[in-house]
Amino acid sequence: MTYLIVTSRCPFSYDKSHNKKVTKKNVGGVATALKLLIEKEGGVWVCWGDGKLDPEHTVEDRGNYKIVRVILNQKEKKGFYDEYSNGTLWPLFHYFRERIRFSSDGFKYYKQVNEKFKEKILKYLEPDMKVWIHDYQLTLLPGMLRKSGTQNFTLFTWHIPWVASEFFSILPEAEEIIHSLAKADMLTFHTPLYTSNFRASAQKILRNSLNENGKLFSISLGIDETYYEKANARKARVKSLEGMKMIFSIDRLDYTKGLINRVLAIENMLDRFPEYAGKFVYVMVVTPSRTSVTEYQSLKRELEMTIGRVNGEHGNLSWAPIIYMYRRISDKTLISYYSQADIALITPLMDGLNLVSKEFVSVTDSGSLIISQFAGSSYDLKSGALVVNPNNIAEMADAILYSLNMKREEIQRRLSLMKDNVYGKNLDWWLGEIESTADRKLMSSKESTYVHSR
Ligand code: G6P
Repeated sequence: MTYLIVTSRCPFSYDKSHNKKVTKKNVGGVATALKLLIEKEGGVWVCWGDGKLDPEHTVEDRGNYKIVRVILNQKEKKGFYDEYSNGTLWPLFHYFRERIRFSSDGFKYYKQVNEKFKEKILKYLEPDMKVWIHDYQLTLLPGMLRKSGTQNFTLFTWHIPWVASEFFSILPEAEEIIHSLAKADMLTFHTPLYTSNFRASAQKILRNSLNENGKLFSISLGIDETYYEKANARKARVKSLEGMKMIFSIDRLDYTKGLINRVLAIENMLDRFPEYAGKFVYVMVVTPSRTSVTEYQSLKRELEMTIGRVNGEHGNLSWAPIIYMYRRISDKTLISYYSQADIALITPLMDGLNLVSKEFVSVTDSGSLIISQFAGSSYDLKSGALVVNPNNIAEMADAILYSLNMKREEIQRRLSLMKDNVYGKNLDWWLGEIESTADRKLMSSKESTYVHSR
């Protein structure tokens, strides 16, 4: 049985740069996983074509599968993407109460765009396909598809946190969203906490009428470690840090990532232990993201001012504590940083999963991981990582100090626990768990239809 996959982002988009046509690959973990599946099993992938030249590629044949692109106009993009997905749902599901924009206009466009996706799905859906919808941008699709009479098995995977039910209920559209999601045959989340939060939200709104028995699953996304092994052999050369230890992080520029608190932790450590000046360097790579959303523009200024202050206070002619890069970097360079780093500092304020932590664990052979207790992946990696509260600056500074002085044996012991998890629960495991659960559910629903119809 093949899949009809639905995501907000496409696996590829076509853009224009210096008057030339360029193909942009989506390198995110989810896109990589789904590409692997659809290349193997065939099917259709419906997504938003946001590249300048995507309107010329609304249906793209890629041999075994098709990419079908939904094209949005400026108003739809603003309402669906900037306002409702990223101005309302994103802060809501990351507990940023003061950043939530309640905009009925945004929701109007969000609904309109979900409808546009639905139309494309109906056009390409075949009776024997499973529909697999992803993430917070597309919550209304399960309900819309059922309303149009679609009987296909529908699976929904949620990639960000699901908040406590009290918090979710502040959303004016909470009921509409739950009613729609409840129409899926199966929903998966990355941690048991998000699953139980969703269950509580659904029970509150549907007054226990959700037949969620066997419908909700916690299956945490893994990485394709073989990709990182292969790429590790081709890694780029990184300038020697002349005996200094390297702390590393890479994130999208997002207020959920806790970037400023990390800089404050470095400052706190140097204020208390100035003798560490010149003994380490923190390489902080930040990739541009959602640049059309105002909140993201002001965050950049604030982050850069804080880095400037800390470097100004503690740096000297030959050393600065933070090397900051605001750009995308190639996989080759990223893997070099992973393999050279002594410490990965992954401390988001809230994060659905965080694949960077798993990628680092798979590449490094001598690094330690400091992870936020609010990153979904801390659930998988807690046995070997130093788990910190990203709101506690002194605790983060202490964890950095502890890691800088960690003995080789302890690093290896912790790393091997984490590697067991990353290799054992890799991308194949994730896809396998989801597929086999979906197939089991599909079989049992066919059996029960057969029994009922006799
Ligand atoms: C998170 C979300 C994804 C989203 C990605 C990048 O990982 O879970 O759904 O695609 O961020 O954000 P963007 O707004 O660029 O799609």
